[in-house]
Amino acid sequence: MSRRKALVTALEQLDTANYDLTGKKVLMRVDINSPVKDGILTNTDKIKAIVPDIKGAIPYCEGLVLVSHQGRMGGKDFISLEQHVDVLRKELPTVKIKYTRFTSGPNAERSIRELQPGEILVLENIRMDEDEKREGTIAERAGFPMTRSLASAVDIVVFNSFAAWQNDDTSLTGLPQVRPTLVGGYTIKEARLLESLDGESDKKLSFIIGGGKPEKMKYIPGLIDSGAATGLAVTGLPGDIFLRAEGYGLGSKGKILSERFPKALIEAKSILSSYRGRITRPVDLAVMENGERAEYSIESIPANLEPYDVGARTVELISKPFDPAHSVVINGPFGEIERYGGMVSTLGMLEAIAKSGAFLLTTGGHTKWAVDQFRKEYGRLLPLHTDTLGGGAVLSYYSGKDLPAVNAITGGYNATHSAELEAMLRQKAPRVMKSKS
Ligand code: 3PG
Repeated sequence: MSRRKALVTALEQLDTANYDLTGKKVLMRVDINSPVKDGILTNTDKIKAIVPDIKGAIPYCEGLVLVSHQGRMGGKDFISLEQHVDVLRKELPTVKIKYTRFTSGPNAERSIRELQPGEILVLENIRMDEDEKREGTIAERAGFPMTRSLASAVDIVVFNSFAAWQNDDTSLTGLPQVRPTLVGGYTIKEARLLESLDGESDKKLSFIIGGGKPEKMKYIPGLIDSGAATGLAVTGLPGDIFLRAEGYGLGSKGKILSERFPKALIEAKSILSSYRGRITRPVDLAVMENGERAEYSIESIPANLEPYDVGARTVELISKPFDPAHSVVINGPFGEIERYGGMVSTLGMLEAIAKSGAFLLTTGGHTKWAVDQFRKEYGRLLPLHTDTLGGGAVLSYYSGKDLPAVNAITGGYNATHSAELEAMLRQKAPRVMKSKS
């Protein structure tokens, strides 16, 4: 059994559907981190995706606490979860949904303890808690004040946050050391989807890595070495970084990249030294010139202009091999889609893939937003398409890297207290019979 398949099997064993949550105060670590433009959420799919699991848990548990991150500290999308709460209230109109601006500590604990059966409490963006991203080993994270505080107020943790499992953040690795941790149905569905596209199928699997997170480059060697990727292209910020690493000026952007991402540039050079022939890089880029989008070859970007998307020749180059024997994974949009004209190449690629007959998997909230725009612009759905809201986690999965959150669940409290979990399993049958009678 491959390591990727072993993951799905491990998750299925912890499926909340098989356990009895009756009388338990449950903390569900979700990932409702959503795209933001001018402080407003632009896509709420990640929030809506967890609603069925909330509905499944709420009739049994002694109150449900939702914990999520939103954005990264210092970023424009680093905002409170208040808008997320509004969305949840619309989706679950009959459920009392409370919100606290605390993430942990006595105030958060009091709110959790006061929570009544059938009610939900949403804690503030967990990345506003200094412990969430604080450096530490998994054992140290288990002892951080945030972990101790939240664990003291809940009985059980449910992970429904596959999209964030590539992170070793405290709520994802510390909590499973001190509380039994199960896995939500939405996450298991996502993992099964990935497994169904995995290397054992006879289709070729191509990855297009874009978006605005340079650290995704670290998955490239694993994607190639594991044999998961038969083709691999870079666009978006990773694409720019590879081009800069090769010495292209990139107009006024080159200097900015050198200043902001020195480590990523070194990493890109190192990846290129081993995998140059396996990675398709952009050949043209778009800039805003006199208020209009214009496309230039990578060698001739005007020095005073800043590229913000890839061009049509790049879309053509990447999509050329795609045919019905291919599955294509798009991870992140190709340009700055919040800007005027910044979605042109991503929409162009979606159209090219639709025409090619390849199967398309789009990953992550921002890519989902682009797919929504495609539907609006073209007035039709993409054929042969499915999506997952995991972004970096999907790349991590296919590259064969360990997901820190999975190690934490399988090796943490669950491993040392298996009898406790078994007892919860055994209680399942009477509860189901009771609810039917
Ligand atoms: C995502 O959107 O990819 C996840 O929520 C993880 O977010 P992060 O890359 O900021 O950790």
